[in-house]
Amino acid sequence: MAIRDILTYPDPRLRKSSEPVREFDDDLHQLIRDMTETMYAASGIGLAAIQVGVARRVIVMDISRDRNDLQVFINPEVIDFEEGQVEFEEGCLSVPGVNATVARSARVIIKAQDVSGIPFEREADELLAVCIQHEVDHLNGKVIVDYLSSVKRDRIRKKLKKELLSMENQAA
Ligand code: NI
Repeated sequence: MAIRDILTYPDPRLRKSSEPVREFDDDLHQLIRDMTETMYAASGIGLAAIQVGVARRVIVMDISRDRNDLQVFINPEVIDFEEGQVEFEEGCLSVPGVNATVARSARVIIKAQDVSGIPFEREADELLAVCIQHEVDHLNGKVIVDYLSSVKRDRIRKKLKKELLSMENQAA
C-alpha cells in the first residue's frame, strides 16, 4: 500500500469529470487500497479517486467513530433524492483549512458497484447522505468552494495558490 499525494484546489485536475470503471482488476484494487490508506492517514472521512489524480469513478468512505467501517462505492449514482434538505459544515481534504455550509438532500438512494463489480443499492441519510453527495460531486469535477459566493471562492483560490507556490519554492 502507499499513501498518495492529495491534490488541492485550485489544481485543474479536480475539475475533471471521472470516467466509469469497467475493469474490476488488480489495478483497481491497488487504487482502492492506496486511497484507503491515504484517507486514513489524512484523517478524512471520504476520498474520491480524482483527489489522488485518478479520473475514475471510485469513492472510499469511513464515517464511523472508530474508523473501522470502510465503505467503497464504484460507479456510484444518486438515483433518488428525497425531499428535505440538511445543512452541514463540510470540509474537504482538497481544500485544506476551509469549511463551507452546504445544503444537500437529507436522504438519498445510491446505486453503485462493489470491489468485485457486483451492483448494490443503498439508502443513506444524515452524514452518510451528505458525504456521498460530496464525493459524487468530486467525480463530476465539483468541489465545496462552488457552493460559496464567487468573492469568497476567489479569496480561497488566491490563498491556497500562494501556499502551494511557497511550498514548491521551499521544495526546489
Ligand atoms: Ni472533498
